[in-house]
Amino acid sequence: MLTKEYIKELKNNGNGAIGDLVKEYRDSSSLTFILENLGQLPKDFDGSFLLDLLGHKNSTVRLWAVKTIGKLGNEEYLPLLKQTALNDNDTNVRREAVSSIGRMRTKKGQTILTEILQDNDPKIVCQAIRGLLVFKGDNEVDNSLKQLLNHENEMVRTVIYKEYFAEKKDKNSQPHTESYDYLKNVVVNADTIETMRLLKDESIHLTFTSPPYYNARDYSIYPSYKAYLEFLANVFREVHRITKEGRFLIVNTSPIIIPRISRAHSSKRYPIPFDIHPYLMEMGWEFIDDIVWMKPEASVKNRIGGFQQHRKPLAYKPNSVTEYLMVYRKSTDKLLDWNIRQYDWQTVQDSKVPEGYETTNVWKIDPCFDKVHSAVFPVELCKRVIQYYSYKGDLVFDPFAGSGTVGKTAKKLGRYFFLTEKDKTYFDYMKSKKSKEMFDTIETKFLTLDEFKETIK
Ligand SMILES: C[S@@+](CC[C@H](N)C(=O)[O-])C[C@H]1O[C@@H](n2cnc3c(N)ncnc32)[C@H](O)[C@@H]1O
Repeated sequence: MLTKEYIKELKNNGNGAIGDLVKEYRDSSSLTFILENLGQLPKDFDGSFLLDLLGHKNSTVRLWAVKTIGKLGNEEYLPLLKQTALNDNDTNVRREAVSSIGRMRTKKGQTILTEILQDNDPKIVCQAIRGLLVFKGDNEVDNSLKQLLNHENEMVRTVIYKEYFAEKKDKNSQPHTESYDYLKNVVVNADTIETMRLLKDESIHLTFTSPPYYNARDYSIYPSYKAYLEFLANVFREVHRITKEGRFLIVNTSPIIIPRISRAHSSKRYPIPFDIHPYLMEMGWEFIDDIVWMKPEASVKNRIGGFQQHRKPLAYKPNSVTEYLMVYRKSTDKLLDWNIRQYDWQTVQDSKVPEGYETTNVWKIDPCFDKVHSAVFPVELCKRVIQYYSYKGDLVFDPFAGSGTVGKTAKKLGRYFFLTEKDKTYFDYMKSKKSKEMFDTIETKFLTLDEFKETIK
């Protein structure tokens, strides 16, 4: 009977015993079982039977054969591993062969890995890079790898950039968890781009915002859709500059509809989230997630009425009950763990997301209606975003503050806020007694642009 114990016994019993066993059991699952359970191999292990298995029809057997050859660390097998790395028809087997070559850490292996850098499959190239990075500092290796900076594949480019070209941070820049006092709990009544231009690089931890919808309300009139998208691109380029390394931007938008001008024309729908996305990617935001905010059907405009009468295909217009929360991270070569490690133990404990958090990307939340502002965030929506994407003591920014829901919620959750709002009516609304109480009368500063300029001098 084939058992783990039996395999172990044969393995240590001297040369050839496993080879004989393999001859006896030719079916794929037995072969896989034997190879999987070989574990560490003794120095004098005879692996010649493995060469035959490199041509086995089952890819899992071939994968384990390659893995086992790698464990032998015998340079004699390098040409065969190279052949498998270049020619096997299964990517995982090829990848494993590259990994086995790398694990040998020999000069000959280094030469083969350098050749493999020309492979068409980026996964194979990345595996070869991994093997070569063991020799980082060797001129030949460094030169071959640096040449991949302009590689066609983005993963390859990112790895090379991180290894050889990433800038070392200026030691004098502000610690990651801190923010400037002149930005804490401040609302500025001005154009957001003009205000952001006054801020230093890497000033804020999180941005959550809902931009003005293209020509959908009085406060958002633009000469063309292109001009509107370019305006947003300029806003998010500045947000990118003032965002700290590896931190998040969450943009709430949805496709909008501009009504027809007469019955002789049709209405036009603009897919805002999809059109802003390429701009954001291009300027250095990394796409992380798409969260769908779902509202009850009764709360949205009825578009399906006409169709319900006639049921004519092509004229189907579903009620839009969703909006998007597109989640982006400022591109960096640092992992999220790096961001988290910047906080002390107590802050990490205090910021833990409480039980009852949402586990899916569909957030069912009722919309909120306000007498003064026509498009306010529900507090629950802000609460989730702030809790899931920031730590206590962080600075949260909303460039399009409106009634200030992001600010009020950030404050309640132990974060600081910085808001810009162009419209005096909404600025005054935030400042008004009722709203101000929610903000906290003592601490919040409501400033004009000139007053703000004074505070940051
Ligand atoms: C969709 S609303 C945001 C509502 C907000 N989320 C809330 O909870 O009340 C967009 C806001 O952006 C403001 N806005 C538009 N263009 C602006 C600009 N260039 N700078 C600053 N604010 C602007 C509008 O006046 C409007 O109040």
